[in-house]
Amino acid sequence: MPERNETETAVTALCRRWSREATPLKGPAARMAFFRDRLPGLLRDRTLWRGILAELAGGGTAGEGRGEAIFENEVVLYRDPARVFSLRLYLFGPGDRTPIHDHSSWGVSGPALGELEWAPYRLEAPPARLAALPPRRLSPGDVATTLPLEAGIHRTGSPGPGSVLMVSVYGTPLRRLFLNFYAPEAETVRRVFPARLMRKRLAARMLEEWGSSG
Ligand SMILES: [Fe+2]
Repeated sequence: MPERNETETAVTALCRRWSREATPLKGPAARMAFFRDRLPGLLRDRTLWRGILAELAGGGTAGEGRGEAIFENEVVLYRDPARVFSLRLYLFGPGDRTPIHDHSSWGVSGPALGELEWAPYRLEAPPARLAALPPRRLSPGDVATTLPLEAGIHRTGSPGPGSVLMVSVYGTPLRRLFLNFYAPEAETVRRVFPARLMRKRLAARMLEEWGSSG
């Protein structure tokens, strides 16, 4: 379908340009500042998001980085080949929220549609004693930033009653292939891998177990 191709081409072309501009910036702070400056304009591009939503509504995948997603509501739109950044979107129905989690990189996020609830947490004691910090509400065009690992624990979603389309840029990931999902009530933390990687790890483990049992 030509419309889908146009939308994908537009996202890819923009991301390639961002990659060329952001690659020479050294250090996470400079790259975060770059995307904090660029992302609001993209969030306000309703034509682009309508096109992507139409593709998803039609059963399409709308992305290049299929298989990289960790969250069920996540679509990887672009993943830079040199891992300078990735661009991802998250679809929240009314009242939907992620589990409390961290990331393996810095991030810049904001809504393209709806009011986004951005709820940060502070790790008071490992593994999972958390203190809730004041949540923020972001409108389309507003962005929030997050730091890697325990300095950036947060939860995002829709405070209700509307849906939220959140768009995020994440920087070069640290050498860690999972995110932590926190359950502060039970003070537990769980490692969550991308689905494809999880299947790969489990399959390798099964082969190993099978091998040792003959
Ligand atoms: Fe997040």
